[in-house]
Amino acid sequence: MNTIYMDNNATTQVDQAVFDEMKPFFTEMYGNPSSMHRFGGQVGVHLKKARQRVATLLNCEPDEIIFTSCGSESDNTAIRSALNAQPNKRHIITTRVEHPAILSLCKFLKKKEGYDVTYLGTDAHGRIDLDDLKNSIRKETAIISIMWANNETGNIYPIEEIAKIATDNGVIFHTDAVQAVGKIPIDLKKTPIDMLSLSGHKLHAPKGVGALFVRKKLPFRPFLIGGHQERSRRAGTENTTGIIALGKACELAQDHMTAENIQVKDLRDKLETELLNSIPDSILNGDKENRLPNTSNISFGYVEGEAILLMMDQFDICASSGSACTSGSLEPSHVLRAMGIPFTFAHGSIRFSLSRFNTEQEVDFVIKTMPDIIKNLRKLSPFSAEKAAPACTKSYSE
Ligand SMILES: Cc1ncc(COP(=O)(O)O)c(C=O)c1O
Repeated sequence: MNTIYMDNNATTQVDQAVFDEMKPFFTEMYGNPSSMHRFGGQVGVHLKKARQRVATLLNCEPDEIIFTSCGSESDNTAIRSALNAQPNKRHIITTRVEHPAILSLCKFLKKKEGYDVTYLGTDAHGRIDLDDLKNSIRKETAIISIMWANNETGNIYPIEEIAKIATDNGVIFHTDAVQAVGKIPIDLKKTPIDMLSLSGHKLHAPKGVGALFVRKKLPFRPFLIGGHQERSRRAGTENTTGIIALGKACELAQDHMTAENIQVKDLRDKLETELLNSIPDSILNGDKENRLPNTSNISFGYVEGEAILLMMDQFDICASSGSACTSGSLEPSHVLRAMGIPFTFAHGSIRFSLSRFNTEQEVDFVIKTMPDIIKNLRKLSPFSAEKAAPACTKSYSE
């Protein structure tokens, strides 16, 4: 069997239709859309089409989309813009379970630039308390940034309600929707979000392209200064191939999301149910109900996640432990720690994240293979049963 790729929250395979769409823009239509000649100008026409496709998926206006290089750039741009546009407001609200693209930036802003940051805590299922959010808002709150869906657990946050709380309190609201776009419906006409980040490589477009939605009339301060691309909101010659690919990926998501979600969720549920049933001391992490259809985060108690991944790799099965960006370290995931998952379980967490390309045959193989992997590792494990630690529901400011 070929590689079984169940790490789609880390990155996805470029869809063949996306690749076919972008290919001519490398070697045939390689002009610069800012050029005066028609050769460049024709590329501009395709960028416009791509912008429209992204806007259609999000139900917003095309000129509310700014193309960027990745989700991290979109996140950084959004937060920096809100702070720079409101110099008298020096407080940020976010959560303890955000991606490092938000958390590391907030840490930097606190340490190097003296901003106040409130990190909302979660319950044992990773859910946040909206009263806690309301109570954290201050006169000087510049921005609330809360992710739409969590990359590790797949938890979906109540973004409509959160956006309303922010709007009612006159605070700019940004959501990191990198894991949500293409996986769940998003309607920016109905939801009063001010800024939203997305990333191409999470939805079957290539790496190196992202976008930031900025609502019309929202005061905006660019992050990259230079040429007049993106209506002077993001300098730099456009990544034309990437943008065209992102447009096609958004169109595919728009056309196939409903059917694909049923297929992916069925496979995910089969995998999850069978693994939880067949492997003792395994628990599901996250909010079972409000979750992305493709994600299952399971802790196998008393074994080390990195060791599990290495054993899985012997069978050509790809998944991840913690988030892909932190799996180089042996620290348990900050998301699971925020949820109060006990050490011996947090360490043994594996995130399976499926896509439209997974098959039932692959799921069956993983179901058959995992119990022996865990059994063999447990024979070597120094860990013993440990009491559950309480969830860190408390928010804190720094
Ligand atoms: C929720 C979330 N936000 C932001 C990012 C960063 O996106 P990118 O890799 O495009 O910079 C990721 C990537 O894993 C993510 O999962």
